[in-house]
Amino acid sequence: MSVESTVRPVTTLRLAEMKQRGEKIAMLTSYDYSMARIVDAAGVDVILVGDSAANVMAGYETTLPITLDMMIYHAASVVRAVQRALVVVDLPFGTYQGNSKTALESAIRIMKETGADAIKLEGGEEVLESVERILSAGIPIMGHLGLTPQSIHKFGTYNVRAKEEAEAEKLVRDAHLLEDAGCFSCVLEKIPAALATRVSGELHMPTIGIGAGAGCDGQVLVIHDMLGINKGFSPRFLRRYADLHTVMTDAVGQYISDVKSLDFPNEKEQY
Ligand code: KIV
Repeated sequence: MSVESTVRPVTTLRLAEMKQRGEKIAMLTSYDYSMARIVDAAGVDVILVGDSAANVMAGYETTLPITLDMMIYHAASVVRAVQRALVVVDLPFGTYQGNSKTALESAIRIMKETGADAIKLEGGEEVLESVERILSAGIPIMGHLGLTPQSIHKFGTYNVRAKEEAEAEKLVRDAHLLEDAGCFSCVLEKIPAALATRVSGELHMPTIGIGAGAGCDGQVLVIHDMLGINKGFSPRFLRRYADLHTVMTDAVGQYISDVKSLDFPNEKEQY
């Protein structure tokens, strides 16, 4: 049996089964082919082509400027690399809010032009019409509640959301609306751990937390943050698994020094 045929791809159904048997879901972002190959081969369950690409790949302050064409470029590169993980792609700001026909067209472009498995979008009741229309076309949706970075200009800060009862109750209602509409999962970003635990307990669909505590059914981090490539971002929820900033800086510094000192290339490194 070839290696390829032993790979069992992750599906939305498998994620639901994982929740049922209490197996946690590991999700990470990726935005390009080389990184996605490593992340997929390491065995992550879900790869999110997040609109955080606007920050970590393009250097924008917020996620708002990234376009559908840019997301499609990143997502298609990731899909070409992946054999096992479920690939979820963010619908970028302005491509689904307020007009469900536009939302469906955006989601269809992502599915057709990238080969991804599902889309993610931010919000609850406000985007329900778009959610229902996209789902009616057979496109799986992952929701995203709590801190929703596309609304940063409404919130004004990246602080923890839903600490007050009214906002917490709205989040619970929104989570149920998304589940009842047919979403397969929901990201809970930067909300109190007790609230995330309650929501995860009430829902059948798996929740994926980022800064939402251990009660979620899975966790997600931005790959550049957890690998320590991006040193300027240190929220409490971020665990760094490597210090690639230092590794890469040292390697580049060594290369410069070798070139300048005529050490590189040596006789074996030329034709
Ligand atoms: O864009 C992104 O990377 C995300 C995660 C932080 C959940 O939405």
